[in-house]
Amino acid sequence: MYWPLLTLPLLAAIPISNAQLTGSVGPLTTVAEKAATKTCNVLDYGAVADLSTDLGAPLVSAFNDCIDGGLVYIPEGSYAMSTWATLDKGTGWALQLDGIIYRNGTDGGNMIIIEHASDFEMFSSNSAGAMQGLGYQFHADGTSTTTRLLRLQKVTSFSVHDIILVDAPAFHLVLDTVEDGEVYNVAIRGGNEGGLDGIDITGSNVWVHDVEVTNKDECVTVKSPSSNILVESVYCNWSGGCAMGSLGADTNISDITYRNIYTWSSNQMYMIKSNGGSGTVQNVLLENFIGHGNAYSLDIDTSWAEMSTASGDGVGYSNITISNWKGTESNGLQRGPIKVLCPAGNPCYDLTIEDFAMWTESGDSQTYTCSNAYGEGFCLAGGDDHVAYTATPTTVTVAPSGYSAATMAADLTAAFGTASSIPIPTIPTTFFPGVTPYSALASASAAATASFASSATSAGDVLAVSSLIVIPTGTFSATSTATTAVSPVAASVASASSVVSSTSTSIFSPSPETSSASATVGVISSISMPLASGSAAVSYTSFLTSVVSSTQSAPSETSSTGVPELEETEGCPSGFEHESHAHDHGHLHRRRFGRH
Ligand SMILES: *[C@@H]1O[C@H](CO)[C@@H](O)[C@H](O)[C@H]1NC(C)=O
Ligand SMILES: *[C@@H]1O[C@H](CO)[C@@H](O)[C@H](O)[C@H]1NC(C)=O
Ligand SMILES: *[C@@H]1O[C@H](CO)[C@@H](O)[C@H](O)[C@H]1NC(C)=O
Ligand SMILES: *[C@@H]1O[C@H](CO)[C@@H](O)[C@H](O)[C@H]1NC(C)=O
Repeated sequence: MYWPLLTLPLLAAIPISNAQLTGSVGPLTTVAEKAATKTCNVLDYGAVADLSTDLGAPLVSAFNDCIDGGLVYIPEGSYAMSTWATLDKGTGWALQLDGIIYRNGTDGGNMIIIEHASDFEMFSSNSAGAMQGLGYQFHADGTSTTTRLLRLQKVTSFSVHDIILVDAPAFHLVLDTVEDGEVYNVAIRGGNEGGLDGIDITGSNVWVHDVEVTNKDECVTVKSPSSNILVESVYCNWSGGCAMGSLGADTNISDITYRNIYTWSSNQMYMIKSNGGSGTVQNVLLENFIGHGNAYSLDIDTSWAEMSTASGDGVGYSNITISNWKGTESNGLQRGPIKVLCPAGNPCYDLTIEDFAMWTESGDSQTYTCSNAYGEGFCLAGGDDHVAYTATPTTVTVAPSGYSAATMAADLTAAFGTASSIPIPTIPTTFFPGVTPYSALASASAAATASFASSATSAGDVLAVSSLIVIPTGTFSATSTATTAVSPVAASVASASSVVSSTSTSIFSPSPETSSASATVGVISSISMPLASGSAAVSYTSFLTSVVSSTQSAPSETSSTGVPELEETEGCPSGFEHESHAHDHGHLHRRRFGRH
């Protein structure tokens, strides 16, 4: 029997309220199915986790062997990447990044680009796989670079989850012309300046949820053309903030929902930005936003000075609803919480601002400003004539009732600057106050499955497995909490192509040591563990090797069956400094011009 551990994205029912999506999102087959087809471990293609050997060519070779279906596997360890990998035209494949990739090259472009792919999944089974872009090496002295970390281009039916993207020299994750995709349980942490976008999306039927971004530019941003995009539970934890744009000629954006967006110490809670241009943006819902310490809150700016003017009378904005926004802004007199400046040549209409209560953190007044904007609520003009107008800002001197809103316990208190290396974070398990993520971290869901397997243990067993980690081609190991020494046990590896290490007889050793063995990918049909008394062995059967990573114990044990402590993954390699750099709590760091 197999436990299809990574089917969650497939099985997760899309909530009914997610009308913005047009159909299912995510890969079409499970990682287990892909691994069973073929597994291409980069270590078998010349990769070495030594922070020196280039991962680029081995990754491309491994991919080429699994291009028609399979699992490309980057085991735990620290890799250097000095040449970039273009992974083109894969079908039915997955990229399991359990290790950390350190940039060690200076080319522009994308360190990893996945293109023209379908049925694709990128993830880490330990929720600790990361790309460390070491962007500070450019940013410290202002060297210009276009190096992005990860790009998916023309990819359909995909997911990206449980990965961490850090300190990109330029952008972190770009989803370019994608369809039917899901991105979740992702942490992004970049430097404190413009041009270091978190997630940029163009495409259709895409669900992004449970994501944290720290940087000073785009948090999660939709660009043109896009339709049917749902963005939920995003924690902009010191960022530029979420946005739409920049939009120019022939803009075509429709049916976009952002919901449960928590924004702290960012340039804005949501910005729509254009300058001139043409085309339309319609059917947009921005609901359940909480903000604290941000410069702007709602900021619709259609003559945005940081882009050059595009041809046309202005993008046509209509049917945009802003609902349930709470919290505080940095200085409401300087930058009021409602700013809706539509094009005079093409006034916005059918806008709604409702259930909106924000108040200033400094001073005792704030402004609402609308021009060329029609609809209901606050400073929007009523009526159907839609003629251009410029209104004077409404000044408010009494805090609106109900403005106070929860904060996140772990709001970042200082930026990471741009001059020193940025530490690799762990992926949080909460992204919006009071909202549980849709999917547990991959590491945790695997744990739950494995402790289910431990119910094979008979009552009264003395010996418990406190940690059992089984991953493809990697190390599987266990730490026993036995007080009496036990003899080694056997693990029989079924349907694995080979056992690459012969140490499988010492998989388990008495507490507190951990020993390990390796096997190529496959299904571990049974792992036997003798009891402390030396009597019968307990067998754990049918572990699927791809993702079991668990803490478990015999029923008689009191030890916890929670999620295993993952090793500290920052693994600061020598020569890399992990000093965080306190920076002024300043807003509106200049954004670089010319983002695409
Ligand atoms: C980067 O590449 C060089 C060779 O080009 C190598 O000497 C060095 O060890 C690599 N790793 C790091 C982390 O710089
Ligand atoms: C706008 O995008 C939609 C898909 O959402 C497409 O059907 C339509 O043809 C596009 N319109 C233009 C003018 O490109
Ligand atoms: C306005 O947009 C919402 C989505 O935000 C959509 O459900 C609704 O149908 C749109 N209304 C019209 C008249 O198109
Ligand atoms: C916000 O960012 C800071 C710094 O990266 C981090 O310490 C904190 O844990 C983050 N919050 C969450 C909920 O991850």
